[in-house]
Amino acid sequence: MSINDSVAKIRWQFPFSLQDEILQEARRAQSSLESRSCPGQEFLGWLDLPAKMKAEHSALQSLLIDSSGVDALVVVGIGGSYLGTRAALEALRPPFTRGLPVYFAGHHLDSAYHAALMKFLDGKKYLVHVISKSGTTTEPGIAFRLLYDDLRRRFPDSYRELILAVTDEKKGALRQLAQKEGLKTCVIPDDVGGRYSVFSYVGLLPLAQAGLDTGRMLEGALAMQSRILAGKDNPALEYAAYRNQAYRSGKKIEILASYRSSLTYFAEWWKQLFGESEGKEGRSIFPASVNLTTDLHSMGQWIQDGERTIFETVLDVQEETVLRIPSLDMSDGLGYLEGKSLAHVNRAALEGTRQAHSEGGVPVAVLSAPEMTAEVLGALFYLFEYACGISALMLGVNPFDQPGVEAYKKSMFRLLGKPE
Ligand code: PA5
Repeated sequence: MSINDSVAKIRWQFPFSLQDEILQEARRAQSSLESRSCPGQEFLGWLDLPAKMKAEHSALQSLLIDSSGVDALVVVGIGGSYLGTRAALEALRPPFTRGLPVYFAGHHLDSAYHAALMKFLDGKKYLVHVISKSGTTTEPGIAFRLLYDDLRRRFPDSYRELILAVTDEKKGALRQLAQKEGLKTCVIPDDVGGRYSVFSYVGLLPLAQAGLDTGRMLEGALAMQSRILAGKDNPALEYAAYRNQAYRSGKKIEILASYRSSLTYFAEWWKQLFGESEGKEGRSIFPASVNLTTDLHSMGQWIQDGERTIFETVLDVQEETVLRIPSLDMSDGLGYLEGKSLAHVNRAALEGTRQAHSEGGVPVAVLSAPEMTAEVLGALFYLFEYACGISALMLGVNPFDQPGVEAYKKSMFRLLGKPE
């Protein structure tokens, strides 16, 4: 399937019709994004990142570190500086396949995790991509110290060649260290916030280093951008209008559901995108997620029968028929499924659950995509980023700041005795 064909097949099905006034409002919000006149207008660099990075793609490739003889890549970052990478890696690299192993560090402060990682890396040669826009974030800062210390001790002559830093052009401790030590660096543009940075070096560099087709991801994003800008049939605008209409009818929680286990981290990326962009000034839709059918066995009861303040958005990415259920003489009651594909059973689960949840009073929207490829993933990232911009503006908040995240840091730093 060509890139344009697969991106054109990404489609919404909504459980109710969208009101004209809401659609008008969404169009006004989109115009203010496009004319760069909305709140947060200084952070709209992400709009043009796919084209910009496509033009820089060979420069990006030339930055990659030669990984022959290397055992792993460790990506250090948190929030917007790692979630897009992790989401793409899990979506595009099937589990149990070969490729440069990628591990994550600095996305929390769990000492047992980091101790186990350091033990595991002992004796191995590994690359580090350290990613921090501010260059001062505590979690990746600590993880990078651990890795840097280890590499410096074990590879005194070559540790610099094993590290790539992605950070602000001028500011921050990481920039200073990179300058002092002569580490290779790439810049996160000033006008791109963390959660909108997957198409910058933040996401593309580690993904390209891991061997993923970042060029096709960018192509997919560009195809989605053209569709959004073409006016009619704009999936970002429709989704923003839909979720605001749901919110205004009392639906305060949106649950992103997927029947593909490889999309777990896509949902984590989506939660950060919407949570940090919209959760302000006492209003907002709470973004939650479930992995289905897994969570039907834990959260299914709540969704079916709990407070009717939720709406569900299903990411329906078609699966290939790779496995069939074998015929066996077993008394497990599953004989009626013999010869059917697992994908067929998963689809029945999706359809059946959609029906049950709808009957239980949960509006269910479905976003269908024809396959999971680099271009479809790129298109989905761009669709949701764009929809989030429109949706947050419709809620009346600045989609591109995050004043609330400073509060916990202040208390934590006080407890740790950080000097003023
Ligand atoms: O989206 C955001 O701005 C945040 O999630 C940041 O990406 C996150 O806090 C990490 O910040 P930094 O890249 O400065 O280390």
